[in-house]
Amino acid sequence: MLKKIPAAQVRLGMFLQSMEGPWLSHPFWRTKFVLQDPADLEALGASGVMSVWIDVSKGVDLEVPAAASAAAMPAVTAVTSAPPPPPPPPQPPQPPQPPQPPRPAPAASRASLGEEMARASQLVSRSRETVMSLFGEARLGHAVDAEQCLPLVEDVASSVARNQSALISLSRLKTKDNYTYMHSVAVCALMVALGRQLALSEQQVLEAGLAGLLHDVGKMMMPIEVLNKPGQLNDVEYATMRSHPRLGFEALKAGGAVPDSALDVCLHHHEKMDGSGYPDKLAGEQISLLARMGAVCDVYDAITSNRPYKVAWDPAGSIQRMAQWQGHFDSVVFQAFVKSVGIFPVGTLVKLHSGRLAVVIEQNPAKLVAPVVRVFYSTRSKLPVPVQVLDLSQASCNDKIVGRELPQDWGFTHLDDLWAKPDARG
Ligand code: C2E
Ligand code: SIN
Ligand code: SIN
Ligand code: FE
Repeated sequence: MLKKIPAAQVRLGMFLQSMEGPWLSHPFWRTKFVLQDPADLEALGASGVMSVWIDVSKGVDLEVPAAASAAAMPAVTAVTSAPPPPPPPPQPPQPPQPPQPPRPAPAASRASLGEEMARASQLVSRSRETVMSLFGEARLGHAVDAEQCLPLVEDVASSVARNQSALISLSRLKTKDNYTYMHSVAVCALMVALGRQLALSEQQVLEAGLAGLLHDVGKMMMPIEVLNKPGQLNDVEYATMRSHPRLGFEALKAGGAVPDSALDVCLHHHEKMDGSGYPDKLAGEQISLLARMGAVCDVYDAITSNRPYKVAWDPAGSIQRMAQWQGHFDSVVFQAFVKSVGIFPVGTLVKLHSGRLAVVIEQNPAKLVAPVVRVFYSTRSKLPVPVQVLDLSQASCNDKIVGRELPQDWGFTHLDDLWAKPDARG
């Protein structure tokens, strides 16, 4: 049963169902949880939130006599109808912040790749409608109310916590029709993984994920024939494309439900460390940490995907090339990114010492050179071999990676089909 109570009467053990007031003024990323941390209680007190809804079937009830805490809204409104609180102070743009002492990540038990693939694949289909409707609003020039995608970002963050490889590999499966949507989900997942690698607080990890999901919303305002042009853009077209960060930023800002950090990533994900990016030619630390993270995740996912204007580069080769682009990325952030996706990221075609070819299907965070692979071909017989999953980090496994191979050199055009189907793995 839901009860609306004054924020001042909230105590530990209550189940917070929702809070009154704009989301931006809320002290928590999420509602619908049992309040257990005294720091959360304090944050609520300091937030200016006036009243909250609690669910007394899921947590502690008010201790005051029933009459004073009547569930009926009019009675409680009387309790809360004290002078309205001052509006939350306008939030200034945030300077780049050092990692805050992390709130521990939500306890998430690890799942095997197979287990998580099934869940991640459902998540991808479920998220489709949310993201498409949100992007559709942007396309129509409407303000974008991003609050509806918060649960989605939380689900992505949990999936990545249970198994980092599942969602990241699934979101590699793009088609020319779903690129913008899948790219958003991919960058969301990559941002979450990178944020955890950088030991950001869980709140910042979620903001990073939200920022990743929304960073390219301005592409919806681009003329479709420019967005989908099959060749190189001319100068005029590229100038048009360069307006997408600002247009996206304006649409999100007008929607009013997005934290400043995510607004900033939308506006500044194409800035470069040497000041040669756009739209503001920011350099170095002028670019927020989350925007520097966004730049890495965005470019990595863009270049490892087939685009109307060019075919995908393979994941490991993409990491190699990005490492050589002087002045584009923050090197500390880039190093952390490599740790999180691996030097042989999911989807990389590798040759093993035994002469067999395999595709990387899962990272081994403790040993980047020894991921889990799916063996499927013999270079000796030049024939497919029975598919086998090998964990190269296991002592019992006698094989190892000797190098990366290019799918096109072997005529493999549908490598993704081979490994990324949830039902194609044991
Ligand atoms: P996108 O395709 O999502 O790419 C995002 C960013 O990834 C690019 O930002 C760029 O930094 C990097 N990137 C992607 N492909 C390549 C590549 O082949 N080489 C290098 N060095 N970097 C690459 P950028 O350049 O500011 O482009 C922003 C958006 O403009 C792109 O988003 C894409 O939608 C569009 N665009 C850029 N160049 C072309 C093009 O030649 N043809 C078409 N049709 N669209 C383009
Ligand atoms: C789609 O997912 O079908 C389209 C994505 C987009 O509009 O960018
Ligand atoms: C970049 O620094 O963003 C690209 C440089 C290159 O394509 O070589
Ligand atoms: Fe972009």
